[in-house]
Amino acid sequence: MKTRITELFGIEHPIIQGGMHYVGFAEMAAAVSEAGGLGIITGLTQRTPEGLRAEIRRCREMTKKPFGVNLTFLPSVTPPDYPGFVRTIIEEGIKIVETAGNNPAQVMPFFKEAGVKVIHKCTSVRHSKKAEAIGCDAVSVDGFECGGHPGEDDVPNFILLPRAAEELKIPFVASGGMADGRSLVAAMALGAEGMNMGTRFMATKDAPIHQNVKDALVAASELDTRLIMRPLRNTERVLNNAGVAKIVEKEKQLGNGIKFEDILNEVAGVYPKIMKDGDMDAGAWSCGMVAGLIHDVPTVKELITRIMKEADDIIAKRLTGALRG
Ligand SMILES: Cc1cc2nc3c(=O)[nH]c(=O)nc-3n(C[C@H](O)[C@H](O)[C@H](O)COP(=O)(O)O)c2cc1C
Repeated sequence: MKTRITELFGIEHPIIQGGMHYVGFAEMAAAVSEAGGLGIITGLTQRTPEGLRAEIRRCREMTKKPFGVNLTFLPSVTPPDYPGFVRTIIEEGIKIVETAGNNPAQVMPFFKEAGVKVIHKCTSVRHSKKAEAIGCDAVSVDGFECGGHPGEDDVPNFILLPRAAEELKIPFVASGGMADGRSLVAAMALGAEGMNMGTRFMATKDAPIHQNVKDALVAASELDTRLIMRPLRNTERVLNNAGVAKIVEKEKQLGNGIKFEDILNEVAGVYPKIMKDGDMDAGAWSCGMVAGLIHDVPTVKELITRIMKEADDIIAKRLTGALRG
């Protein structure tokens, strides 16, 4: 399948693996890129620019195909060394960066000068237009269904994607709720040029995370995610568990007066406990409603091959058949 996204990034299939904290290690990114998609290393999981440099080099040992790095700008107690991360990305010859969170305007001149293509992840049409205006090459349009931070507008992809198509000139991929060939064809029908997946890629043999997380995703339904931190205007969609139940209860009790410190135990330092140790009640970790569409744990290669075949069948058989009557 050839789209403006496959052309822009030099990849075979229009499928991107979005940055994921404590999941987007070299193994994950390399598996996706080797299978013909675009794998992405999560920059901040590496904590320091030197750590990221080593991870990029590890990934290069695993694949010669293009892969990218995610740089997330979110509110943080101790801000990371962003200038250092930007320098490392450029010095290591990375040519694709996924930015997310705050507007990446400050880092754009450095990336543009180094010939780095930037895809910014946005949860609204106005942020997507802003990304286009500051020179981003593409956007990843993240609907309300998505795992992680859906923003505060709560617009699902059936509305958000065609609205983005009405307003944008640069290409965009659909993100949030994407799982299979049906998702890809639907996303393209709504104006996207490919799709970005997070949660679905966690439930693969290649994802370098604890088996308990993969089992939890297969067991979960579309009803099992919760929105937390809305009163802090930092809404996150997470899989429900005992730690999340505590957060939801505190939010109910404290209302809009809640402070980050009130839920610190259930949100800070949780990712390694979940992803490495498999302690499934440790606290909040991002997960999309798409968990309801995850029923198995294939390899990344099997997953991507299956998606492309399914998409092909839907277009060539079901849709073309419907046209013929
Ligand atoms: C466990 C997990 C961690 C994530 N961490 C990040 C992150 O650090 N930075 C980021 O930009 N997006 C992050 N995301 C969001 C994904 O990149 C992607 O946009 C999202 O998962 C898409 O929705 P989906 O899960 O329905 O596919 C994370 C998602 C998950 C599931």
